[in-house]
Amino acid sequence: MEEKMTVGVIGAGTMGAGIAQVAAQAGHPVLLADARAGAVEKALDTLRATLDKLVAKQKLSSDEAVAIHGRIRPAASVADLAPCGLVIEAIVEDINVKKQLFRELGGLVAQDAILATNTSSLSITAIAAACRQPGRVIGLHFFNPAPLMPLVEVVPGMATDDGLAIRCAELMRGWRKVPVICKDTPGFIVNRVARPFYGESLRMYEEGVADMPTIDQALKDIGFRMGPFELMDLIGNDINFAVTRSVWEAFFYEPRYKPSLTQQRQVESGRLGRKTGRGYYSYEAGTGMPEAKPDPAVAEAITRRVLAMLINEAADALFLRVASARDLDLAMTKGVNYPKGLLAWADERGAAYWVDVLDALQAEHGEDRYRPSPLLRRMAASGLSFF
Ligand code: NAI
Repeated sequence: MEEKMTVGVIGAGTMGAGIAQVAAQAGHPVLLADARAGAVEKALDTLRATLDKLVAKQKLSSDEAVAIHGRIRPAASVADLAPCGLVIEAIVEDINVKKQLFRELGGLVAQDAILATNTSSLSITAIAAACRQPGRVIGLHFFNPAPLMPLVEVVPGMATDDGLAIRCAELMRGWRKVPVICKDTPGFIVNRVARPFYGESLRMYEEGVADMPTIDQALKDIGFRMGPFELMDLIGNDINFAVTRSVWEAFFYEPRYKPSLTQQRQVESGRLGRKTGRGYYSYEAGTGMPEAKPDPAVAEAITRRVLAMLINEAADALFLRVASARDLDLAMTKGVNYPKGLLAWADERGAAYWVDVLDALQAEHGEDRYRPSPLLRRMAASGLSFF
């Protein structure tokens, strides 16, 4: 059998440990590094427990589990990653720390080695600029938990070599992942297109359209696995607020992405979600979830408004060539489990319907946030569909 290239993973936290597992499951020898003493050993212990569970569930043979674990070796320092053909960075989300690492890596690995970052919110182009050969730097954005979530956003920076994104997408397919290629823009695909799921739901709550459980239930009834408030409590309101704020700032304060004061107060109160036992809902023992108030007209108004905003976001990403229509839809179904791709969803009623919804919202609120994407308007006028 052809020997597979060695993959280096830097950062043995939530994401790095998961990515190391994925690479090892795909048959690569993996070198795992972390600046914190004991972090790699802890990640390897956790991985052993995870693999044991997969063996117990008969999803893996014990030989395979031993082989996967055995492929991951600790690297004492970044210098040990010299033999790697691909290095994936999953360290702290700090541009200066990442730049320093890529500066170091550039002089360390072979000329043809690929250097990837798993950043969620930083510019790939900015990270690559720190490296002596920015042409070999690319974003490979995995989703949490990396071994379970199929999506990988492949993000070439401005100076990334032509063809590297295609090569990386091919490699990710070999790792049984679903790659999508997207432009180096804030939030990439998922963290940009998903913003209205939270933002518009918070707005409706603030306006008194419905309470939180009713908004959650309405969206679950059309196929979302979790409602926005439940999901924000799961993600952590501090994290979700920080992502919204960073996308808003990175887009030079685009009104569509404006963060919510309700969520800011929630963060200030320390009610961060499940991890603190209280968020929008209480998770303390003995407290049940509050009931939704079923009302078909209210449910229809909620889902129409959230879907119109999500579809507009996906259409605008297509308009600005962030990704292809196919990749935009794949990202939302494979990265955040949406029941359908948003552009395919738009096609069911046609663009004209959604433009009418957005125009009515804009007339009612007088806010730029509801302005339809020029592409959606163009499609409405021509009667064309996305697929
Ligand atoms: P984490 O805090 O769980 O792990 C980061 C690890 O990096 C820690 O073990 C830390 O000791 C190590 N580290 C920090 N600075 C280092 C350095 N200079 N050299 C070597 N090791 C260093 O963080 P997490 O959540 O795994 O995130 C890592 C990256 O992945 C971030 O860029 C984050 O934005 C991104 N990401 C996170 C997702 C998530 O859901 N947690 C999802 C997708 C991307």
